[in-house]
Amino acid sequence: MKNYIRTNKYDKEWISENWMGPNPLILLEELCENMDLKPGMRVLDMGCGRGLTSVFLAKEYGVTVFANDLWIRASDNLKRFEEAGVSDRVFPIHAEAHALPYAENFFDAAVSIDSYHYYGTDEYYLQGTYSKLVKTGGQFGIAVPGFIKEFENGYPDTLKNFWDPDMFTFHSGEWWRHHWEKTGLVKVTSCYDISGIKEIWRPYALWAETNFELPPSLKEEERKMPDFTDMEFLDADTGNDLALIVMTAPKI
Ligand SMILES: C[S@@+](CC[C@H](N)C(=O)[O-])C[C@H]1O[C@@H](n2cnc3c(N)ncnc32)[C@H](O)[C@@H]1O
Repeated sequence: MKNYIRTNKYDKEWISENWMGPNPLILLEELCENMDLKPGMRVLDMGCGRGLTSVFLAKEYGVTVFANDLWIRASDNLKRFEEAGVSDRVFPIHAEAHALPYAENFFDAAVSIDSYHYYGTDEYYLQGTYSKLVKTGGQFGIAVPGFIKEFENGYPDTLKNFWDPDMFTFHSGEWWRHHWEKTGLVKVTSCYDISGIKEIWRPYALWAETNFELPPSLKEEERKMPDFTDMEFLDADTGNDLALIVMTAPKI
């Protein structure tokens, strides 16, 4: 795994108390190497979870962040932003991806770490909602779990016993590139699989074996514990078909 210099500065316990998937700071640091964030820019952190990435954006790039999430309460994130000393420039917002409270063209950039696949595979989401939030020439960036290629069934045979219909949102980088570029709204400037993903994912999977809890704000019908652990899922991927994909694209 490459050396993520910015991520390494952050307390490992703080990261593992708050992560909701493979180290979000690593995914964001990788993503930001392909973006041009400047102090004072307004950035949407879409699906920020417990806000690790929002703190990182404010501290590392000096941007103002709207930390948007659904499962995690804005009041809980505000406490974390206060503790991290960034509550003057990181604003917690509780909003669903299809009911966002922002003006059109408000943001200079929108990033989303391990979240966009929950709503963004919808053919109309970029066009109907997401692209409107960022001004022309502004930047989009996502990091999502997926596969190194598309599979006829939607998943590799090795993961058949672990398959949950939610995971049909896992796609290849090429799928994501086409999904965005065909709209003509953005020009994809980078799209690739991060290297060393098992090394990035395993520490989270190990932690989740004993610490995983569903976010308390989930509705009753959504409170279903997964039937398998992330570690079992990773170990089953003997073909190394899983990927963590980053993609960036300015708005045309
Ligand atoms: C796997 S968690 C990742 C959280 C965080 N980015 C991280 O890496 O720790 C996915 C996040 O996406 C958010 N999310 C999922 N569906 C959403 C929706 N429809 N609207 C807004 N946020 C959504 C959830 O609230 C959740 O915090």
